[in-house]
Amino acid sequence: MNVSDVRNDFPTMRKGKGVYLDSACQSLRPDRVIDAVMEYYTECPSCGGRSVHSMSTAVSVRTDETREALAGFFGTDDPDCYIFTKNCTEGINTVAYGLDIKKGDVVVTTDTEHNSNHVPWLVLADERGVKRRFSVSKEDGEFDMDSFLEQMCRDVRLVSVQHCSNVTGCVTPVREIAEIAHDCGALVLVDGSQAAPHFKVDLEKLDVDFYSASIHKMLGPSGMGFLYGKKDLLKQLRPLVYGGGAVGRTTYSDVQLAPVPDKFEAGLQNYAGIFGTKAALEYISDIGFDDIVKHERSLMKKIFEGLEDVKGLSIVGPDRPERRCGIFAFNINGLLSHDIAMMLDNMDGIMIRSGMHCSHPLYESRGLVGSARASTYIYNNDEDISRFVTAVRKIAEEFGDH
Ligand code: ALA
Repeated sequence: MNVSDVRNDFPTMRKGKGVYLDSACQSLRPDRVIDAVMEYYTECPSCGGRSVHSMSTAVSVRTDETREALAGFFGTDDPDCYIFTKNCTEGINTVAYGLDIKKGDVVVTTDTEHNSNHVPWLVLADERGVKRRFSVSKEDGEFDMDSFLEQMCRDVRLVSVQHCSNVTGCVTPVREIAEIAHDCGALVLVDGSQAAPHFKVDLEKLDVDFYSASIHKMLGPSGMGFLYGKKDLLKQLRPLVYGGGAVGRTTYSDVQLAPVPDKFEAGLQNYAGIFGTKAALEYISDIGFDDIVKHERSLMKKIFEGLEDVKGLSIVGPDRPERRCGIFAFNINGLLSHDIAMMLDNMDGIMIRSGMHCSHPLYESRGLVGSARASTYIYNNDEDISRFVTAVRKIAEEFGDH
């Protein structure tokens, strides 16, 4: 992988718009994705799956091709197991509300989930009397198998876990979790937002029942995501939204829902997003995850080496770069994370995220009010890291408490 060539594919990089270290929130987009979005608007800005004219047919064909691209990317055979959503959150909510989880059913998550895999279960607990149990993670955020096993028994209906944390970067052993959950008769839903952009996710091998992720963290258009589900489960799952395009036939008193996946995609869809999704998946595949993983580990190692002796700097999550999956969350004594983020931007155009990163319970459980967070992706280079390290050192030395 040639990082200079990669950078040259991204308009914001060519324009020198600063050091972008906020890819865990949204990734940047290469020309290929932007061109695909433009192609929709300039060549065939019409609906898919309805009208039979040529523009509409082009949209329907590309929609099918994009589903095929998703199936290929995630190592499964059947493209119809992929539903387009607007983000990972929508996919999780589709499962939460569609599964018919009843009073007394238990949902197990970890204690370090993002709000998108936390709030839906809180609401179901409130609305339906669903019970909630947490697997308690180790102090540095690593998944604790013993604690998980303690939560598992036959009353568990669903295990819903993140594949990778957006704060600590820790990767959850999803395959082992799925095996244990299935032995207990429970289903498994995975929040894959922070994993799918960074390493190979083979859904056939992981054997999870549902997997949801955001395409806008994977070089794809904003407001695009997908939900994967095993076919038999998708057939039983109720949609989150009902309407046109998602039905076979209706009468004044009756509705027959369309088959999977159409029954989940009511109303006109984000077709420009679908065009861009295919281009994004192809772009990542052309680079390949072997190179992506190697590159991101090398960047993370440089961050750790560059900041290890900075007084007053503490890391949220494991202190081993190979466990961080492109995410470096940190604090500097005496400074608020938002102040760190603003200083980095003002000093040298370095863009990071700050605050609680939609993971409030994780921070509260560790007595923290938030953290600054730098997150990398394929287009970051050694110079980005060295500018980040130099600026953080300066901030810590000049403004932090030592
Ligand atoms: N969950 C996204 C993040 O961590 C938005 O920034």
